[in-house]
Amino acid sequence: MKALILLCLLGLALSHTASEWASRTIYQVLTDRMARPDGDTSGCPNLSNYCGGGWAGITNNLGYIQNMGFDAIWVSPVVTNTPNGYHGYWAQNFFTLNSNFGSEQDFINLVSALHARGMWIMLDVVANHAGPTVDTNLDNTNVISPFNQSSYYHPFCNIDWNNQYSIENCWLASLPDLNQTVPYVGNTLLSWISWIVTTYNIDGLRIDTCMEVPTWFWSQFAKASGVYTVCEVDNPSISTNAGYQGIVDGTLNYPLYYLIRDLFQQGQSMYNARSFMQQASSAFSNLNYLGNFVDNHDNPRFLYQYNMINRFQNAIAWSMTWPGIGILYYGDEQAYAGGNDPYNREILWPNLGNTGSQMYTFVTKVVQYRKANQVWNYPWVERYADDNFYCYTRGLAMMAFSNTNNNLQYNVTYHPYQVGQVLCNIFYSTDCVTVLSTGVPVYLNGGETKLYQLQSKETPSEI
Ligand SMILES: *[C@@H]1O[C@H](CO)[C@@H](O)[C@H](O)[C@H]1NC(C)=O
Ligand SMILES: *[C@@H]1O[C@H](CO)[C@@H](O)[C@H](O)[C@H]1NC(C)=O
Ligand SMILES: *[C@@H]1O[C@H](CO)[C@@H](O)[C@H](O)[C@H]1NC(C)=O
Ligand SMILES: *[C@@H]1O[C@H](CO)[C@@H](O)[C@H](O)[C@H]1NC(C)=O
Repeated sequence: MKALILLCLLGLALSHTASEWASRTIYQVLTDRMARPDGDTSGCPNLSNYCGGGWAGITNNLGYIQNMGFDAIWVSPVVTNTPNGYHGYWAQNFFTLNSNFGSEQDFINLVSALHARGMWIMLDVVANHAGPTVDTNLDNTNVISPFNQSSYYHPFCNIDWNNQYSIENCWLASLPDLNQTVPYVGNTLLSWISWIVTTYNIDGLRIDTCMEVPTWFWSQFAKASGVYTVCEVDNPSISTNAGYQGIVDGTLNYPLYYLIRDLFQQGQSMYNARSFMQQASSAFSNLNYLGNFVDNHDNPRFLYQYNMINRFQNAIAWSMTWPGIGILYYGDEQAYAGGNDPYNREILWPNLGNTGSQMYTFVTKVVQYRKANQVWNYPWVERYADDNFYCYTRGLAMMAFSNTNNNLQYNVTYHPYQVGQVLCNIFYSTDCVTVLSTGVPVYLNGGETKLYQLQSKETPSEI
């Protein structure tokens, strides 16, 4: 009994809450695609299958990630998968680890190496379905452990995406859909998540396919995990996403993902950001617990859809300074431009030495700015909106964005800045402006973004 209490206390002490995660910045890596454990840098013959990356490969390259300022990584699901499940979303055995990614010790070593660097691990987990090896008649469920009976699954049907009951009870593509209402299934998934978090010292969870499972189950699942949980709710609706906050800590910010595309690919009016924030701030109880992203493994990359680096830089800077936890999809720091799955799941190893590239340097500056200014601790306030120009502040940090290649000039008034103080653009150390009585003269040329840092060390009263 005493040992049990001690274990519980330890578990509490080690797990990380949503408010602790709010100050983190996450690098999303597909475990199979970052680095091969033996350092082999030859190409991958087939992106639809294993390319040979693994946990030891990530461990060997944590400096590449940490040097950009990231203090957490999100890795692919770790459990044993059915054949060709290089992405990890096709569980075959929920209680063993995927040997294609290395040994169990390799995974333990990755988590230890992260923690030794002060970094956290976010594990991607799937509780909606198993791998596609089970047939639609559920004749061969014995291949899946521990869900080896047909009664553990919903009967096959195709999802009708306009019907939430169907989304929860039918099969996503050909993936056998677990019935969490069956007591054995629900209870086993709860003990599984508790087991995996405590056994491997997991700091937070990214939960796959949240809309495909009833919310009553996610409440129990999040509690059983004891850590920060962020749900994939693959839907552009603010209200649909907001419906999950409170059940889990947050969602991956798909509404923001679409706003960013509207603004920086479609060139829609920047005033859209104002109405977006009005809706989002009233719908969500805490925007800081959402996960902001520009790209991920399920969508064509930004640069594939719109190959303009200045718009992409605006998008990245926006996602890292807007309320929410900043998440960067691996390869964005090398300006990867892959299209639909699997082309957006490129191998990273040809670029692991490329730490001086334009985007690697840009991402590093943005992530360091996010942290140096602790943007999560300060309210977001719009300071200026126009069709092609937008400016907001978080505390003394001021960010300006444009979605036109025309040269722009705006005077932005923000009272904490005093006349005579100097603000510098973090991307060019000599690009500084002096605050005038008419405001901060902001110049954006050729579609750039600027993140301003107050340079004057004097307190306002001394000026
Ligand atoms: C790539 O791998 C997938 C999965 O095994 C397979 O279906 C496909 O035929 C392979 N493509 C090529 C060109 O070998
Ligand atoms: C399912 O797995 C359990 C536990 O391993 C085993 O006892 C049972 O016989 C299996 N059932 C089937 C139908 O394979
Ligand atoms: C899921 O399992 C529950 C409990 O056994 C059952 O009542 C329900 O009909 C099942 N759902 C479907 C869609 O089969
Ligand atoms: C900004 O203010 C300066 C003087 O303080 C003025 O010369 C300039 O025209 C203003 N620019 C805009 C766009 O209003």
